[in-house]
Amino acid sequence: MSRRIILLGILYQAFFAFASRRVEQSFYIPSTLKNRTSYTVFESLASGLDGPKVQPINATTFDWWYFDVVSTNPADLSTAVVTFFSTPPGAFPLLTPSTDITVAVLWISFSNGTLWSTASYADGATVKVNGDYTDGTWDDSGLSWTSTESGYLIEIDAPDAGVTGTISFRTVAPSHYPCGPAEAGQNLELGPHIGWANAISDADSTVDLRIDGDTPVAFKGTGYHDKNWSDVVSGTHIASWYWGRGRLGPYSLVWWDVLSRTGVEFQRNSTYPPVLSTGNPSGYHVDLDLGGNGKLELDLTVLAPLIALNPEYARFVGNMSGSITGGRKTERLIGMALFERFKLTE
Ligand SMILES: *[C@@H]1O[C@H](CO)[C@@H](O)[C@H](O)[C@H]1NC(C)=O
Ligand SMILES: *[C@@H]1O[C@H](CO)[C@@H](O)[C@H](O)[C@H]1NC(C)=O
Ligand SMILES: *[C@@H]1O[C@H](CO)[C@@H](O)[C@H](O)[C@H]1NC(C)=O
Ligand SMILES: *[C@@H]1O[C@H](CO)[C@@H](O)[C@H](O)[C@H]1NC(C)=O
Ligand SMILES: *[C@@H]1O[C@H](CO)[C@@H](O)[C@H](O)[C@H]1NC(C)=O
Ligand SMILES: *[C@@H]1O[C@H](CO)[C@@H](O)[C@H](O)[C@H]1NC(C)=O
Repeated sequence: MSRRIILLGILYQAFFAFASRRVEQSFYIPSTLKNRTSYTVFESLASGLDGPKVQPINATTFDWWYFDVVSTNPADLSTAVVTFFSTPPGAFPLLTPSTDITVAVLWISFSNGTLWSTASYADGATVKVNGDYTDGTWDDSGLSWTSTESGYLIEIDAPDAGVTGTISFRTVAPSHYPCGPAEAGQNLELGPHIGWANAISDADSTVDLRIDGDTPVAFKGTGYHDKNWSDVVSGTHIASWYWGRGRLGPYSLVWWDVLSRTGVEFQRNSTYPPVLSTGNPSGYHVDLDLGGNGKLELDLTVLAPLIALNPEYARFVGNMSGSITGGRKTERLIGMALFERFKLTE
């Protein structure tokens, strides 16, 4: 009897040794909703951080991959955001209703702040998992990404959608989950029923695109990539949501505030919590306790909106200035940030 138990123990260890190896797994995401229960993941395994977390996508679930780049120069309002969606359209306020749930959307702001965006519908998608990283192809959309240990590359060949070129990400800060490092057994819920995995919390990025045939969009900046997913209709458990990220001096910052669950507190001259009729903020003040390393205080000023006006969802580019006090000396720091907020109730 005891021999069997030992054998089981060995098999169990062998299984996990195999499961955590850098084996490549491939997932196909059909372009239509399935009418059955989705299997969703809210606890991390030893690998697969950036892999699909919902299978299949049904009418009340979503799973998507988000990338952005913001210029490091406050005088340059250039940004690029790409989201590879597999979602019913209702899950994200800006999506046009469609029976095709696999769509890649690109939002650009030019150096002068002028906005441009495009959507390219896919005939299904494939996501390949390699360790913690992924390669993704949104079939026939012209948009795809590949990854290595050192970063990601988005390739775009979508002349019908008005865009060609590349966006690269060379990772400079570690991957992480909402409350901890990229390792097994982490809770993946950022807020109620919202899963989040941050494959690239900060990167050196280069955007090299051509829009509408010949307008170049070329800039260097800091880059970011995460994914989020849910097992319920988006918004049913969230009243408001703030998320943002940026590089302040040598620090890579990612913050969020989901109503009723606060990671970082920020509020200045605005109604909190925000509701649909509240205007947009002009900036935030963020205080962050760094434990033994002192206190980080920063002010974030909106420089320009990145999304046309709508009541539910806003995205901004802004500049930050901050200081770290309480350590041996006070450090003064500046940087650029990209941030967003949802307000889903009145
Ligand atoms: C989904 O399946 C259920 C039971 O199998 C059925 O009653 C329902 O009509 C289906 N819904 C759609 C949208 O096909
Ligand atoms: C979709 O899957 C979720 C579980 O993730 C389940 O609660 C829900 O009822 C499913 N919806 C449909 C239409 O089957
Ligand atoms: C902003 O820049 C874009 C790209 O160079 C150009 O097409 C557009 O006309 C400019 N807009 C303004 C208001 O100058
Ligand atoms: C998921 O996260 C990305 C950026 O991190 C954001 O653009 C998106 O709005 C988030 N979605 C929800 C429902 O929280
Ligand atoms: C914003 O701050 C100013 C001055 O600090 C204060 O007079 C005003 O009442 C504040 N508004 C809100 C909504 O907190
Ligand atoms: C943002 O930049 C402007 C100049 O473009 C400056 O006046 C302002 O103080 C900066 N704000 C922050 C929070 O750094």
